[in-house]
Amino acid sequence: MADAKLLLGGTQTINEQGHLTIGGCDAVELAAEFGTPLYVIDEQHLRDNARQYRSCFQSRLPKVEIAFAAKALMNTAMCRIMEQEGLSLEVCSAGELYTAQVAEFPVGRILLHGNFKSDLELQMAVEGQVSRVVVDSLSELHRLSALAADSSALVDILIRVAPGIKTHTHTYIQTGQVDSKFGLGIASGAATEAVKLSLELPGVNLVGLDCHIGSQLFALDCYGRTVDLMVELLAQIRGEYGVTLEQLNLGGGLGIAYTSEDAPPPIEELAKVICPALREAAEQYDYPLPRLILEPGRSIVGPAGTTLYTVGPLKEIPGVRTYVAVDGGLSDNPRPALYDAEYTALVANKADQERYVPVRVAGRHCEADTLIDEIGLPPVEEGDILAIFSTGAYHYSMASNYNRFPRPAMVLVNNGQADIITQRESLPDVISHDVIPPRLQ
Ligand code: LLP
Repeated sequence: MADAKLLLGGTQTINEQGHLTIGGCDAVELAAEFGTPLYVIDEQHLRDNARQYRSCFQSRLPKVEIAFAAKALMNTAMCRIMEQEGLSLEVCSAGELYTAQVAEFPVGRILLHGNFKSDLELQMAVEGQVSRVVVDSLSELHRLSALAADSSALVDILIRVAPGIKTHTHTYIQTGQVDSKFGLGIASGAATEAVKLSLELPGVNLVGLDCHIGSQLFALDCYGRTVDLMVELLAQIRGEYGVTLEQLNLGGGLGIAYTSEDAPPPIEELAKVICPALREAAEQYDYPLPRLILEPGRSIVGPAGTTLYTVGPLKEIPGVRTYVAVDGGLSDNPRPALYDAEYTALVANKADQERYVPVRVAGRHCEADTLIDEIGLPPVEEGDILAIFSTGAYHYSMASNYNRFPRPAMVLVNNGQADIITQRESLPDVISHDVIPPRLQ
């Protein structure tokens, strides 16, 4: 069984009372003050990861832009922190863009993604509310061009390419292979057709190419192959159409540890693969070094998040197993149900105790709702606080109101200070969009 102590990261420690602390705050006190379930974000860890990306890549290449993938975790405070760390922002919906705008995120650093952008989203782009649109289909290219031409606007675009690279990750989060809804294929000629079209159409200004091969990736060799393929394509485009595109966006994807068995490569290793590969490819194809854009999400915020739950009823089924129920589950973390994702945890108020009782951690939703299939914990009692690690990315952002549970609060902790950055939803929030039409009165 995995040892959770091995997973303590960022500012996490165990204090003299044997309690887990994060950002200098006692997790048991956080649970008492803010209630549970509670998402806790370690600000220092988050900022360190963002800085790592910038320093590892910017020390190896002259032109680098790191755009945080907002889908991993989005709220106005996140935008502020990413802005302060000098990152750009990748948004994929009007909702994410609106959040960035309310947080006054600089427009010049916002990229708009998505395989089905609504008219509203394209119109926002035409009005200059983002700096670049990553075009995902020919249909979108035509729609964007028409809207832009109507307003006499010129929108900078990148073309999203499906490079035909299959990665080793859950099939739901593979995105770069030929058989994918994302991007335009190289082999089929769709990518070059989109390039040709974008050079002819009014209202759009092609500045680069884009791809994103997958998420939660541990094997880095696929990045090297992707770089080579994309630079080859850039050179081919230059040869055919006489344009030298200056931007190359390689998306995100670096994996993180959810259990102590996971050994993801550090950010520095990613830089050691991508940067020389880019220099070599540029040399090989005699192409000027493009501006490298990366869009990491999970590897910036994932490890910086911890979810605190209160332990409820315990059920020991003789000869079978012991169930430990917690006061959240599927609605605050759908990843075990979606991806068979594994996690590790600590009992925050018994963090220094030996862990030898195997239990299954179950949520409180009306189905199996297993959060952790089996984990060794110290003897657990009702009222204990369970801390599940590595829940910063794709947890709050994928949370729902299943069973009409209000979504949890989120606190940002640093140097002993804890501040709410997303309020806990209330019961009135949960019903705020319900309508009883007059004929049901
Ligand atoms: N750029 C694009 C265009 C993306 O689609 C994504 C993630 C990223 C960047 C950021 O990738 P990251 O660095 O976070 O791996 N819900 C799934 C993850 C879906 C990822 C979707 N795209 C999960 O919980 O594992």
